[in-house]
Amino acid sequence: MRISDPRIVAKLAEMHVHLRPGTALAELTSLGIGGTTDLLRIKKHESLPDLLSLLDANHVPHKFLGGGSNLLVGDGELPWVVLQLVRPEPDVVLDGNLAHVDGAADLGRMITFCAKNDLGGMEGLIGVPGTVGGALRMNAGAYGMQIGSYVREVKLYRAASRKIEVLQGDQISFEYRHTSFAPDDMMLSVILELPSKPFKVILEGIRICNEKRRSSQPLGQKSAGCIFKNPPGASAGRMIDDLGLKGLSVGDARVSDRHANFFVNAGHASAKDMLTLIADVRERIQKTYGVSLENEVVVWNA
Ligand code: EPU
Repeated sequence: MRISDPRIVAKLAEMHVHLRPGTALAELTSLGIGGTTDLLRIKKHESLPDLLSLLDANHVPHKFLGGGSNLLVGDGELPWVVLQLVRPEPDVVLDGNLAHVDGAADLGRMITFCAKNDLGGMEGLIGVPGTVGGALRMNAGAYGMQIGSYVREVKLYRAASRKIEVLQGDQISFEYRHTSFAPDDMMLSVILELPSKPFKVILEGIRICNEKRRSSQPLGQKSAGCIFKNPPGASAGRMIDDLGLKGLSVGDARVSDRHANFFVNAGHASAKDMLTLIADVRERIQKTYGVSLENEVVVWNA
């Protein structure tokens, strides 16, 4: 979708929104898949209500992009524009055990920065690519922890009220890879309350998690992490592996040889290839186990 009306373009500039016409989303997603659209980079959170009113008034549909690391985007010219926050400097400010973090901050860098200041708890998420806003939206978790446990307060743009709001941690429900945020809410910033731990101890935890991840996940390849959520009491990866589906391919979309719940783009996979592979694996699991696997990856298909 292209914004060509010069009046809208001029208003975007007034709102400190940077328009990048014809951006290939394949370059902004860890899967390396996705078509083309206009990208709107937002420098000031406060401009969001006016920006969204402007887009609505001109019938321009939109989607919010975080770090693009848990996302499968459709092919070709996309029927919506994409909004993304510009990362401010600094993006993490510490105040005792509280970390004030911008939604656009890189998750791994935030964990390392806090660790260097003797604040831990987030070690399990080291190595998970993406932004803090994206991790928050999905309640990212690994190795027995989840980001939601540390949330004290969230500032977000609420699509329902069209306002920027602040929610306290106990007003948000964080479940396994699910939160009470609406799909079109945009995470702007978060205050995390992190336990004090000596840097050395946190570093050891980080080392162990890194090792586990390296030995079991295809880190050097283009992927969106796990494709399916684990069904209650089971592992989607093990179920897919047990059916002998590692290496199953559609075009360049391929079930990883290392971890069967990671589907990798082994070259020039299209969204269509990846979606066909996902549907095929889901059907085989359904037939054998009678379980319908739910997507963990977020799909933006036109
Ligand atoms: N397994 C296999 N074959 C495989 C993959 C796994 O037999 O191809 C077995 C493992 O040997 C293990 C069990 O299945 O006994 C569970 O595997 P793993 O420890 O890798 O955990 P998982 O349930 O597959 C979850 C998260 C990961 C997270 C890891 C580590 C989900 C969907 N996945 O994977 O998160 O990194 O635990 O805590 O909850 C993600 O969110 O994108 C993601 C990758």
